[in-house]
Amino acid sequence: MVVSSQEATLPKLLLLGLLFVCCLAELPRFEHAAKPDGSLSFLVVGDWGRKGSYNQSQVALQMGIIGEKLDVDFVISTGDNFYDDGLTGVTDPAFHQSFSDIYTARSLQKQWYIVLGNHDYRGDVEAQLSSTLSDIDSRWLCLRSFILNAGPETAEIFFVDTTPFVTKYFTHPKDHVYDWRGVLPREKYLKNLLLEVESGLRESRAKWKIVVGHHTIKSAGHHGNTDELNMLLLPILQAYNVDFYINGHDHCLEHISSTESPIQFLTSGGGSKAWKNDIKPWNPQEMKFYYDGQGFMSVEMTQADVGIRFYDVLGNELHKFSTTKHLSSAI
Ligand SMILES: *[C@@H]1O[C@H](CO)[C@@H](O)[C@H](O)[C@H]1NC(C)=O
Ligand SMILES: [Zn+2]
Repeated sequence: MVVSSQEATLPKLLLLGLLFVCCLAELPRFEHAAKPDGSLSFLVVGDWGRKGSYNQSQVALQMGIIGEKLDVDFVISTGDNFYDDGLTGVTDPAFHQSFSDIYTARSLQKQWYIVLGNHDYRGDVEAQLSSTLSDIDSRWLCLRSFILNAGPETAEIFFVDTTPFVTKYFTHPKDHVYDWRGVLPREKYLKNLLLEVESGLRESRAKWKIVVGHHTIKSAGHHGNTDELNMLLLPILQAYNVDFYINGHDHCLEHISSTESPIQFLTSGGGSKAWKNDIKPWNPQEMKFYYDGQGFMSVEMTQADVGIRFYDVLGNELHKFSTTKHLSSAI
């Protein structure tokens, strides 16, 4: 009896093992077509939802103007979508007050690809992830982690849920209550996520690889570097030749070019309240640009080159750079 029951469970265990390998290591995937000429452009804004205050509306206005000029295909949010404590639920009026009624320009009526920030985790996370919000405003697309094939082979953009990486939110939450539904047990969540990101990057055939997360990897701003991401995520980005890591969290605009790897670290966290004069010392050879006021970033890309620009609250261009890849170096 005992022997035969063991024999019966073995194939079941094998099957579960296979399911684990095949199904957990896949992030949800979306596709966004390029323009007819093969190019793509998009805006990146972070740390914004304050019902228009702290210049959120002014930044939105300029995004609309630049968005028109570049004929943007979509918009990326680097998180902290609703201050101070995320949304209370799918009927929270903050969704209209901080999103739908603010980003009203015609050029911004495109798909928004959105990640969660730490402030979003202080509210009802499942509300922001719910399709009800997409029914209310079809621009809204927010998932914890996912992949966007843009072009579809020009860029692969990996959106990574970075808040669960940060230990202090678990050990020292202060008086904040975080909504960890879907995240616990944390170790397993992080391990699976890292495996999923790694396998996605390994299989990527896109010309440009971009990773987007809320938290910083390298930043001279208020929060500075996020140690957990430097330890756990950065080695994967380096191993698979990621071109850009884009984040918010520090309320500034910033471009760091590390001497350790070709990755460019870009912070676009100037969607509303900014921290004036809040900058730590940084190697001037790596620090290409730092602005402690409000604004946003644009990306224009083809298979061969990428151009990045930062703008302030008046739409002035503060910094730009571009980078080129030879088409012949494709895999
Ligand atoms: C709005 O932006 C202007 C121009 O940068 C700045 O002078 C002003 O302090 C900002 N206001 C707020 C509330 O941040
Ligand atoms: Zn944040």
